[in-house]
Amino acid sequence: MDKIIGITELALRDAHQSLIATRLGIDDMTDICDELDNAGYWSIECWGGATYDSCIRYLNEDPWERLRTFKKLMPKTPLQMLLRGQNLLGYRHYQDEVVERFVDKSAENGMDVYRLFDALNDLRNLETSVKAVRKAGKHAQGTICYTVSPVHTIDLFVDQARRLEDMGVDSICIKDMAALIKPQAAFDLVTGIKAACPKLRLHLHAHATTGVTLVSLMKAVEAGVDCVDTAVSSMSLGPGHNPTESFMEMLEGTGYTTGVDLGTVLKVKKYFAKTLSRYKEFQSAVTGVETEIFKSQIPGGMLSNMESQLKQQGAGDRLDDVMAEIPIVRKDTGYVPLVTPSSQIVGTQAVLNVLMGRYKVLTGEFSDLMLGYYGDSPTDKNPEIVAMAQNHAKKAPITCRPGDLLDPEWDKLKADALVLSGNNGSDEDILTYAMFPQVAPKFFEKRHEGPLNLGKDPVSGATEAEITAAHQGNITGPITYAVTLSGQKHKVVVEPYKK
Ligand code: CO
Repeated sequence: MDKIIGITELALRDAHQSLIATRLGIDDMTDICDELDNAGYWSIECWGGATYDSCIRYLNEDPWERLRTFKKLMPKTPLQMLLRGQNLLGYRHYQDEVVERFVDKSAENGMDVYRLFDALNDLRNLETSVKAVRKAGKHAQGTICYTVSPVHTIDLFVDQARRLEDMGVDSICIKDMAALIKPQAAFDLVTGIKAACPKLRLHLHAHATTGVTLVSLMKAVEAGVDCVDTAVSSMSLGPGHNPTESFMEMLEGTGYTTGVDLGTVLKVKKYFAKTLSRYKEFQSAVTGVETEIFKSQIPGGMLSNMESQLKQQGAGDRLDDVMAEIPIVRKDTGYVPLVTPSSQIVGTQAVLNVLMGRYKVLTGEFSDLMLGYYGDSPTDKNPEIVAMAQNHAKKAPITCRPGDLLDPEWDKLKADALVLSGNNGSDEDILTYAMFPQVAPKFFEKRHEGPLNLGKDPVSGATEAEITAAHQGNITGPITYAVTLSGQKHKVVVEPYKK
């Protein structure tokens, strides 16, 4: 009997996040849910920080309603989400009660598998969410963010896997958000983790951007991986992922199989080929292969973000300088992996270093990162920059779990959310407000107007609001920087460019 390698299909979350700036609306997904549910995937990833954000920011769609819809239309296949541990889907640390309530509510609304990660691989930031998922009777997947640096050895990752097992996770995922995992590294890492934690399922999430990772998936399979993440071919490659069909075909004659029905996958392919062609204006500039990423380590989604930040500043031609600056900034942080939110923090600081001079201006978030407020870095940080951050932020470095510093905040969040017009009084709405306090009030007010579809052809009747939102492209709302100039603190708000 061939060994079954599970597949997590990414079309409904990471694939459109990577390829069309997360703009896929619910009415472009519902018609294909039945086929997706029948294909035989191990799980279907369909929810996460960026999809939630995009729902309320651009699509006027209630993300909780989206989740309930998925559950109704795909009752057989486990639904999977990506959760940033103590940050939930937001960009700061939340107090434990908020984390517990989020997990409870999402489980109640239909979530089954929680891929839990911390951008710094500081496992203390996963403790509360792992416990909460286990308590809700759902699948807790502990994640290792894969990155390459002088300190990130196989032993270090294997040790992390062991500690995740001790924490009580149901499975482990190696998450390679920037397509950095080369075939031999994949083989060695999977071999090492499987030897240390033979009882745990091991999954591999890899992007395709560097062109080498389809081979890495094969080597991971040979080393004993249990499940891989792929995206249906019409929603694959570029900054996205390896094609589901190619992975399935590749296994022929190897003694491995997927249990997924190829005929059904091909129907899904046709459907998304048609759908995606309508979202051209959101398409990533990167569509082919980028091996330079092995040096800069920039994940797919971050590149388009940075391009738009630079364009807003009239410095679209400085992208190469920023790419060269990122490894320097990253080294100063103690080699943090680059994934949300550390990727944005390091990327934005690199942009400022290039535009204003190295560390002439520090963002508040970068200072917090240097001072331990996001957690522990993999290795020592540059002490000079830590001192600058301390001076800038006027607070001391910390070494404890950041969540331990937070006072109970649920009641306050609830009180603040309930007074907003259009808030429906549910815990779900309070959580939306908690995670996106700037965007949620506007969303609550216009929610009754119903979901937008930004993939509609403007000629064939898209609304004015749809076209306006579309022309804003990849820009994700005003960005506030805390900036220090000659010792004076300033708040700078950078608005999206409007024609
Ligand atoms: Co990804």
